[in-house]
Amino acid sequence: MKSTVKKILCIALCLSLLVSLLSISTYADTDDAIQRVTCCVNGDTKTQRGFCWYTPEESESHVRIYLNGIDVTDTTVVTAQREQEWKGMYMHQVTVSGLEAGKAYTYKVGDGENWSKTGKFTTDNGDDKVNFISIADVQASSEENFERASWVMDAALETMPDAEFVSNLGDFTNDSTNEEWDGYFKYFERHNLATSLVPIAGNHDGLGVWHWFDNMFDLDTSESVQNLNGVNYSYDYGNAHFAVLNTNDMLSISDAQLTWLKNDMNSSSADWKIAFMHKSPYSLGKDGKWPDALYLTEALTKVVDECGIDVVMSGHDHSYIRTKSLKDNKVVEDGEGTVYVLDGTAGTKRYEIREFSADTYLNTDFIAALTIQRDGYGNYWDGDDYESTDPANIGGSFTTVSIDGGELKLTAYVLTEETKETKVIDTFTLTKETGKGEATFEGDNTTSVFDYALTVIPSFLHLAEYALLKWLPKTIINLPKIIYYVIKTDTF
Ligand SMILES: [Fe+2]
Repeated sequence: MKSTVKKILCIALCLSLLVSLLSISTYADTDDAIQRVTCCVNGDTKTQRGFCWYTPEESESHVRIYLNGIDVTDTTVVTAQREQEWKGMYMHQVTVSGLEAGKAYTYKVGDGENWSKTGKFTTDNGDDKVNFISIADVQASSEENFERASWVMDAALETMPDAEFVSNLGDFTNDSTNEEWDGYFKYFERHNLATSLVPIAGNHDGLGVWHWFDNMFDLDTSESVQNLNGVNYSYDYGNAHFAVLNTNDMLSISDAQLTWLKNDMNSSSADWKIAFMHKSPYSLGKDGKWPDALYLTEALTKVVDECGIDVVMSGHDHSYIRTKSLKDNKVVEDGEGTVYVLDGTAGTKRYEIREFSADTYLNTDFIAALTIQRDGYGNYWDGDDYESTDPANIGGSFTTVSIDGGELKLTAYVLTEETKETKVIDTFTLTKETGKGEATFEGDNTTSVFDYALTVIPSFLHLAEYALLKWLPKTIINLPKIIYYVIKTDTF
């Protein structure tokens, strides 16, 4: 009897030891307390990345970097580090440089003992190719809607598995609460661990709380002074120069940021120049009729023309629009102007277009492609009007861009939620002779706090001048048409 009891006790002890060991090992491998992990494009894309993560309690910040499975952390350098309590959690940001160009790395972040899941990123190899994905306006509140949007990113990474980064054109969440950010990071964790992220501040990202956005991602915003409510920064990848704008700046964009964009773009001799932003200079959705967005058509497009930016990509209006090549707000030949692409929404909130916007505020002939992501069908612009042509069930949208030397190809997709099939809704190709880019600005293109402060009053006056002297008269003159539309469609 005694020996049976001993055997049972022995087995129980062994089992409990095994369970303890397993749990210690699991904890050591992946600590679920390490949340919101991102690896962002940060400065030199060949040698540097910015890591951010959150923990429930204060802890040390460490990043381990691996090449072919071998720990190469010692060959890298931490060039910046920032930690602080933020909204009841603890934020960690570590910028790592000294990476080798053109290498596929893996990484973990943690406190030195406990580590996150493994993420991966590839550094730019310096050739003239770059592939990336863009999405916009996940803008979810509920877990269900974050999950539905995450299927769109699954499809995007399946379509372009070698994407070197994902540009998220803003409005990650609807109300920017801790719960919503947790929802975003829960459902987009697998995508954020799969490649580098280029986050763009939307008007819903950090609603009323300064520094919310730049506390969520480790970015090289040293050039920026507008990071109270968003960030602007730039980087090179392949033979392209990318500028990320903050359209929360003075409700839309300040004179200081326009100067920064001009100097930043003109200091690059890259073959291709691309700008990312949240609000759109050309859109026909619910938000496209307000002065903040239309001020971009008035003020930003002048700088875009001046700098020879090839493609402007934006979000905010929850439908897909591609313009023809535009310069000075007029249609020009391809290669002589800029193509503006409003990414469709990756989320579930979708807007109808407002017909009156097209001929009240914008030229009517600027649209090359348009898709409204209605459940049940999509609408396509036929040149004069929009009409239903496709009975497919349309879900969230994503866009892929491939640059190969002198060719840039953009393709926009929607996901059919029921079948998880993707459908191309638009594609276009631009070509150009490479090696012709010329930097025309030399010197410091940063904007100091003092420089920014000097432009606050002029910026406000320019926006007010546009709103009162241009937008308001147009709106009053067109009021009967707008009222007729509102009565007809019951939407404003
Ligand atoms: Fe928005």
